[in-house]
Amino acid sequence: MTAIERPGLRRWLLALCLGLPLLGAQGGARAQAEPYRVFDARPVITEGPYLVALSDTAVTAVWMTDAPSHARLRLTEGATVREVEPQVDGLVPVGLRHVVTVTGLTPGTRYGYEAIATRVVKLNPYWPDKGLSASSEAASFTTFSAAQPRAAFAVMTDTHEDTGRIRRLMKLIDWRRTDALIHLGDAFDWVASEEQVFRNWLRPTIAALGPGKPLLFARGNHELRGPFARQFAGYVPTPEGRLYYARAIGPVHLMVLDTGEDKPDDTNVYAQLNRTVPYREAELAWLREQVRSDAHLARAPFRVVAMHQGDWGWLPDGGAAWRALANQAGVDLVLAGHDHEFSYAPPDAAHGYHLLVLGQDQLARVEATARLLTVEVVTSSGAPVHTLKIPARALTRAGPTLNGALP
Ligand SMILES: [Fe+2]
Repeated sequence: MTAIERPGLRRWLLALCLGLPLLGAQGGARAQAEPYRVFDARPVITEGPYLVALSDTAVTAVWMTDAPSHARLRLTEGATVREVEPQVDGLVPVGLRHVVTVTGLTPGTRYGYEAIATRVVKLNPYWPDKGLSASSEAASFTTFSAAQPRAAFAVMTDTHEDTGRIRRLMKLIDWRRTDALIHLGDAFDWVASEEQVFRNWLRPTIAALGPGKPLLFARGNHELRGPFARQFAGYVPTPEGRLYYARAIGPVHLMVLDTGEDKPDDTNVYAQLNRTVPYREAELAWLREQVRSDAHLARAPFRVVAMHQGDWGWLPDGGAAWRALANQAGVDLVLAGHDHEFSYAPPDAAHGYHLLVLGQDQLARVEATARLLTVEVVTSSGAPVHTLKIPARALTRAGPTLNGALP
């Protein structure tokens, strides 16, 4: 690496010592206004960018570089260009993994974007040594909208580190007609390292997803295990900063939930390191508030839950409070995995929703209009498994769900 010396360096140093105005001394010219060394070294973008948890007004982009860098996202909407740069506690993050969340977007709008990383060679206390920038190829995405007439998702689950399985399933997706990929969890046996996260899941997933379609991820019980489990969320970060959230996507109000572990916190295999009870209580409180106050949930033709364990995961009450809330909210469909084989249960006395459990080597294509929600499940070779058609219920959402006492 060779340093690109900025001609204004000496003058800047002198000005700083004398307390003179810095920018004025340089006439505001940025090329001359960088009194730090800039080396002739660019980072390489090694993974991504990929988009996580897109909404109608926000998205989180993630990418990796081979060398420490800081990052920004250049966003274009028509002729308008803006750059979004993250900060954590007042500092621009410097590292190999780059996460930029953009908020304040307009629903149903196409945005162009480029992921940019600028090399940081050495973090001196003053005058850190910098390098040059690298940009991803120009890409675009379109924000969801509550007003879009149609919603379409591809859904897979329990891929358990089988990259061949991921590739076979991803080939079945027609991205021209699909808004998002939903992965219902257990992408891993357990989470051990960053390299494993990319090699055994994200790399083949992103290769098919591209930079323009979002990944929506519902954490599985296996993602709570292993030495890298505590870092895992950083690879599927959301604008909300948590692993459960809701999205308004035309006729569908989608709730992505985290069903935690499949055994009690005090099970000896967890060695007293799990605290899913308070975590799930906080999640349930959030969902209660959703049901109580969200206007799109109230009026959408379909309420769909995407989660890993179809029985709501291990819970002290066996999931009774969650089931009751889902019933009261008028959830139409629960999409789940975990069992590694297909099953379907129509609404019954225990649950008012259709419960569809997707098998391990299956893809579900979910498509909804204002009148009809269709789920088509196929094998990894494209053979039909099951087709489910749910007509929109003629519900007055301002009735008992919103005004009644919630469980
Ligand atoms: Fe599971």
